[in-house]
Amino acid sequence: MNFFADTSSLRSLLVRTGFDVATRYPKHREKFPKVMGAEGRQVSTPSMDDERAAVKPRRKDHALAAESLPEVMELGEMRKRGICFGPEQWLIRIVFLETIAGVPGFSAAMIRHLQSLRLMRRDKGWIQTLLEDAQNERMHLLVALKLYRPGFFMRTMIALAQVVFTAAFSVGYMIAPRLAHRFVGVLEEEAVITYTNILRDIEAGRLPEWERFPAPAVAKDYWGLKSSATLSDVMRALRADEANHRFINHTLASIESQDFNPFAYGEARPTERGGRWGLERNEALEWFEREDAKRREAKGLMRAEGATEARPVRQDRLPVKDEAQRDTSNSSRNAV
Ligand SMILES: [Fe+2]
Ligand SMILES: [Fe+2]
Repeated sequence: MNFFADTSSLRSLLVRTGFDVATRYPKHREKFPKVMGAEGRQVSTPSMDDERAAVKPRRKDHALAAESLPEVMELGEMRKRGICFGPEQWLIRIVFLETIAGVPGFSAAMIRHLQSLRLMRRDKGWIQTLLEDAQNERMHLLVALKLYRPGFFMRTMIALAQVVFTAAFSVGYMIAPRLAHRFVGVLEEEAVITYTNILRDIEAGRLPEWERFPAPAVAKDYWGLKSSATLSDVMRALRADEANHRFINHTLASIESQDFNPFAYGEARPTERGGRWGLERNEALEWFEREDAKRREAKGLMRAEGATEARPVRQDRLPVKDEAQRDTSNSSRNAV
């Protein structure tokens, strides 16, 4: 069964509904009324200068007509009627999403670590990748917390959600690790959609507060963003990370637990991980063989030249050129 083809029903059932209920997300719609005062304009945020598109000529929007919504509305009215989110609602969704998203990588890494100790066998390079995933998600949360501080109620809900989700995911991972990775892949896809929708809102004038809002210092430092970076740049960096998590988890869901992690010696190239959901098993095995051969060849050459091994590059410090440009290959990885 090809899970990459269409998981929309699974996504709706397991992930989207839960997050939507928890964060009171408006209806997932493709068409919105135009924001009054923003018709015909071009959004001009620094990060979008190269790709901004002129607003297309207005045409009859049948989807909106069917809902009896006007073609143009005041932004305040749209938010009041729950047609779109404002900044605080988006941040609540991001914070909630990231507190959950940081759990699977760490839980899976711990379970595989304990299995390696208990069963006295190799892990084959999975633990490192899973821990990097969890660390990356935690950084996403820390960036979001620079913009929004949850109150007592939300903190309580997050604590409860963490207890339930961590227990359920860990048990699930022990029983069916491949299904657990598939579920995480779907969760990551939801994160990609969330950040895409935020960028669309900014482009369409539904989030004017964020058009030129400066990126927090921690985000600039973490992703190596320019000093003039805005929240749009942060959202694009977040989306690129989520696409990477999606690619990794769908790939891990397609291989056996005793296969080598194909990303043990380096992550997928940006064009690969941004363009598809993951690798099938035969592709993943070939991928690992190729990366392993490259690594052996490089090591052999370095020995022959008497060179000392290069200092590992910290993957969380590499600058981001744009969402699909980050090369996170890491020479410190090891498939043990
Ligand atoms: Fe995240
Ligand atoms: Fe993620």
